[in-house]
Amino acid sequence: MLKIFDDKSKILREYCDEVPLPLSKKDEEVLLSMLHYLEKSQDDKYAEKHHIRSGVGLAAPQIGLKKRMYAIYYKKNEDEVIQYALVNPKILSNSTKMCAMKNGEGCLSVKEDKEGYVYRYYKIVLKAFDVLKNKEVQITAYGYDAIVLQHELDHLNGILYYDRINKQNPFEIRPNSEFI
Ligand code: CO
Repeated sequence: MLKIFDDKSKILREYCDEVPLPLSKKDEEVLLSMLHYLEKSQDDKYAEKHHIRSGVGLAAPQIGLKKRMYAIYYKKNEDEVIQYALVNPKILSNSTKMCAMKNGEGCLSVKEDKEGYVYRYYKIVLKAFDVLKNKEVQITAYGYDAIVLQHELDHLNGILYYDRINKQNPFEIRPNSEFI
């Protein structure tokens, strides 16, 4: 069982290091174990038994590793699973249009959800090495998919989702943005 570090831990605030490629066996194993953790966390019985929270994304610093890699796993609908095991992700381009989740975001490292809108790019093109495909990939993502990729990328730069909530006006409505 992976130990999840919370937002009081210094590592959650650090800028993570690029990961050498080709990927070492050890890094690959760690990243796949993170993906597996997410998948299991979405099994209610398993999560309850092991006292873990359900999550859709997990970045290396959240398990105490200062490395630029993260895993994402969720079911988009009945028969479509979105899953990635990404190394050294980088945003190549983004829309000017923004989006935010109408119910706010959550994070396995943040015990109590913080209320407020977290505005992110509505569309991104991201490149990374994907362990699941064993090659460099370019991912074009919109809306929720783009939000998850950006939330995890923030972790690699020491940023937490609530840093992006407007403290004076947590529910500010911004122009050119969409709620998801
Ligand atoms: Co998070």
